[in-house]
Amino acid sequence: MARSRLLPRPKTGTLAVLDIGGSKVCCLIARIADNGAIHVTGIGYHESKGLKGGRIIDMDAAARAIGQAVQAAENMAGETIHTVVVSVSAVQTGSQLLRGEVAIPHGEVTESDIRRTLAFARDVEIPGQNELIHAIPVSFSVDGQHGVRDPKGLHGKRLQTDIHALTLSSSTIQNLERCVNANHLSVEGFCVDIYASSLSCLVEDELDLGCTIIDMGAATTSIGVVLDNKLVFADAVPVGGQHVTQDIARGLTTPMNQAERLKTLYGHAIRNARDESDLIEVPQMGEDDKSSGHTVPRSFLTGIIQPRLEETFELVRARLEASGFSSTTGRRVVLTGGASQLSGLRDIAALMLDKQIRIASPMRVTGLAEATSGPAFSSACGLLIYAAEHAHEYPDIAIPSMTTGGMIERVKQWLRENW
Ligand SMILES: Nc1ncnc2c1ncn2[C@@H]1O[C@H](COP(=O)(O)OP(=O)(O)OP(=O)(O)O)[C@@H](O)[C@H]1O
Ligand SMILES: [Mg+2]
Repeated sequence: MARSRLLPRPKTGTLAVLDIGGSKVCCLIARIADNGAIHVTGIGYHESKGLKGGRIIDMDAAARAIGQAVQAAENMAGETIHTVVVSVSAVQTGSQLLRGEVAIPHGEVTESDIRRTLAFARDVEIPGQNELIHAIPVSFSVDGQHGVRDPKGLHGKRLQTDIHALTLSSSTIQNLERCVNANHLSVEGFCVDIYASSLSCLVEDELDLGCTIIDMGAATTSIGVVLDNKLVFADAVPVGGQHVTQDIARGLTTPMNQAERLKTLYGHAIRNARDESDLIEVPQMGEDDKSSGHTVPRSFLTGIIQPRLEETFELVRARLEASGFSSTTGRRVVLTGGASQLSGLRDIAALMLDKQIRIASPMRVTGLAEATSGPAFSSACGLLIYAAEHAHEYPDIAIPSMTTGGMIERVKQWLRENW
C-alpha cells in the first residue's frame, strides 16, 4: 500500500513542504496563484539534527529540528500549516523500471487501463516491506508498437507500460512520519529529493533532450537521469560536502566550524600553481587563542579537497555506468545542491565525468530571499513544484473495478469511463 496521499488539489491555495537534508531542515510555505505561479510566503530552516547519511538516528532531535523550521516558516507566512510534502533522500530509495501489461477490454485504451498496468507492476514486483512513493509512466506500447507517448484513445488488444518505480522501506516511512507527526503535522506525500531538484533546476531543452542531474548535498550526492521529460533513474552515493569538511578538519587539525569556513572562503576543487604562495591562517582544535593558529599554504587545503571530490565523481560515474543510462543521456550534466558552490567544482566535474556541466539554482518559484535562492534550496523549491503540479502522479493506484468506494462511486467511475 502506498503512503503518498497527494490528491489532485485546487489550482490555487497554500502549500507547505519540508526538505529534510543532512545539514538543514527547510520548510517552505507558498501560495499558488490563479495562473499556477508559485510564490513563497514563509521560509524557515534550521540546522539538521538526528540524521546521519540521510537516515534518522535520533527521532527526538530530528523532530525538534523539524519543529523549529516549521515554526519559523509559519511565523513568516502568518499562517499555520497542517500538512506537508516531505523529501526523502535518494540514498534510501529503490529505483527500478517495471513493466505492466494488461488486455484492453474495450479495444481502446482508457485511463483505467493505464492504471491497471501500474497496479499490475506494483503487485508483481514491489516486495511487502517496501512502499511505492512514485510510479512514473515512462513509455507505453500498444500491441508491441513501442514509443507511444500517450496511449489514451489508441486501438489495440494489449497495453504495456514501463514505469519508473521509486520505493522506500516501510520503516523509513514510519520514522519520518513520526518525526513530522510530533509537530502536529501530517505527511501529505513523499518526494525523492533528486526528483524535486530536477523539477526546479532543469530547463526545457534539458528535459526534452535528456540530461543527468546531480545534487551535491551535505551527506549525500544524489543522481537523477531525465529522458524525454521523465525521471527514469535515481540513485545516490553517501558522500557529500560534509565529508570534505571533515577531511579538512582532520587534515589541518582545525574545528569543524573553522574547516567549513576555510572550505567556503579559500577552498578550490583543483590545485593550481598559485596555491603554493597563498598562505591561510588555520585556527587549531581546542585553542581559542588566535595567535596559536598555524599558517599553511593554500595548497594544503586544495590538496585535501581535490581527492575527496575525485572520489565522489568516480562513485557517481560508476553508478551511472551501472544504471545503463550513461550513454543515452547526452553530454549534459546539471549540478546543484549546496556543495556545488565550491569554487572550481564545475571544472573538476567536467574533467571527471567528461561532460558539459551547468551549475543550477532553483527556478519557477518566486518570493525567495537571496540567502535562500541558491543551489542549496533546489530540492525544497522542487518539492513545491511537485506538490503543485504533479499531484496526479499519485501512486496509490486505484483499479476502478476494484475500488473500495461505495456503489455510487463505482457507477460514477463506470459512467466517466464509458460515456
Ligand atoms: N559556498 C560553498 N562552497 C562550498 N560548499 C558549500 C558552500 N555553501 C554550502 N556548501 C556545502 O553544501 C553542503 C550543504 O548542502 P545542502 O544544503 O544542499 O545539503 P542538505 O540538503 O542539507 O544535505 P543532503 O542533501 O545531503 O541531505 C554543506 O556540506 C556545505 O559545506
Ligand atoms: Mg539536499
